[in-house]
Amino acid sequence: MRFPDGFLWGASTSAYQIEGAVAEDGRKRSNWDVFSHTPGRIAHGETADVACNHYHRWEEDLDLAAAIGLRAYRFSIAWPRVVPDGRGAVNERGLDFYRRLLDGLGARGITPVVQLHHWDLPEALARRGGWLARETVDAFGAYAEVVLRALGDRAPVWITQNEPWIVCVLGYYLGLHAPGLRDLRLAVRAMHHVLLAHGRATRVYRALGLTGSVGITLNLLPAYPETDSQADHAAAHLSDGFTNRWYLDALYRAAYPEDLEAVYRRLTGPLDFIEAGDMREIAEPTDFLGVNYYARRLVRADAAAPFGHRVVDERQTGLPLTDDGTGIYPDGLRDCLVRVARDYGAPPLTVTENGCVCWDRPDEEGRVEDQGRIAYLRAHIAAAGDAIAAGADLRGYLVWSLLDNFEWSLGYARRYGLVHVDYGTLHHTPKTSAAFYRDVITRNGP
Ligand code: FCB
Repeated sequence: MRFPDGFLWGASTSAYQIEGAVAEDGRKRSNWDVFSHTPGRIAHGETADVACNHYHRWEEDLDLAAAIGLRAYRFSIAWPRVVPDGRGAVNERGLDFYRRLLDGLGARGITPVVQLHHWDLPEALARRGGWLARETVDAFGAYAEVVLRALGDRAPVWITQNEPWIVCVLGYYLGLHAPGLRDLRLAVRAMHHVLLAHGRATRVYRALGLTGSVGITLNLLPAYPETDSQADHAAAHLSDGFTNRWYLDALYRAAYPEDLEAVYRRLTGPLDFIEAGDMREIAEPTDFLGVNYYARRLVRADAAAPFGHRVVDERQTGLPLTDDGTGIYPDGLRDCLVRVARDYGAPPLTVTENGCVCWDRPDEEGRVEDQGRIAYLRAHIAAAGDAIAAGADLRGYLVWSLLDNFEWSLGYARRYGLVHVDYGTLHHTPKTSAAFYRDVITRNGP
């Protein structure tokens, strides 16, 4: 199986998860600094104060990326480094870090894929309501303009938001991510503002006359009924609405799906935060869709559950599992790429994240033999190839992640990297999967 010529093989990271240096060169605190320093929020009380020390050793990290042969590298810009108060004064030293990074990528022939925002919201905005506040949308537009004026022509691919569903559901409904709230009403409002901010930034990109590509990244969770019963089919459709259609319909049809709108109205009251013109702004045309895929959802009808369904625990379904108990289902990646192509006008697609946890440790010689990760990546890359064969216009595939890093509320124990990070010595060592991926890139296929 060979991929199209010029296929963009790469890997992803995000600022808060790897940079460290949280109080250096004018960076101020983010919602995640606040959250991770709140007792009880993060496994083992860990924070990303140091993380992978990438802020100081970015050159070595880019050398590792080059040694793997990455054609593309997706990183995010820390809003609290560049506009530390969320809006207003620009911190040039913050921008300088990303200028150096972009120079470093250029010197190594690696294409930058730049994420404007990957969850680290300046504390000043978080205190005023974060994504609950419409003013955060305005602040994001202004921040996007600052970054895109300074750096927009230095990278060919820009991404606005990352995984609105995770931001809003885990942050405002399940209480697992910053800001740790548990209120569906708030989550639905936050979803709207995160999407609106995407539309705002897309308009900024166009207004500046930039000629590269701009898009958004969604985490897609394909839903499958547990049985062939009508009830399970309906439940899977609703689950798909909750995780996928809410965002895809807004972005590609300028309307939220009616079935879910009815559910949210019933559970949370009127959706009175939607203002005239919002849906058109959200649906501002983009150049591609980023898709993050990790797992499927097997769904069972359950009238007593809030959305009329439950997600079946994969430990009971017989699927092979990753080391953190995630069901391994490569066909789900093919299915969700093909589905977007079929239902949403076949936009260009890039897999912006895919990867798995291995609790991989170095052996006596310092090697990390992460065979589980290799098998996972090989199967998912093959599934991405199947999606292309079935008509999806897939242009790239980025592994999550280049480095082991700070895995949000799960702390450092969950390791996703092609490169192992020793958090004691801060040494970074490629795992066996890095060599595997290098061969994939050289062969242009799994
Ligand atoms: C995604 C996030 C990314 C990382 C992976 C494992 O939801 O975008 O930052 O945490 O999961």
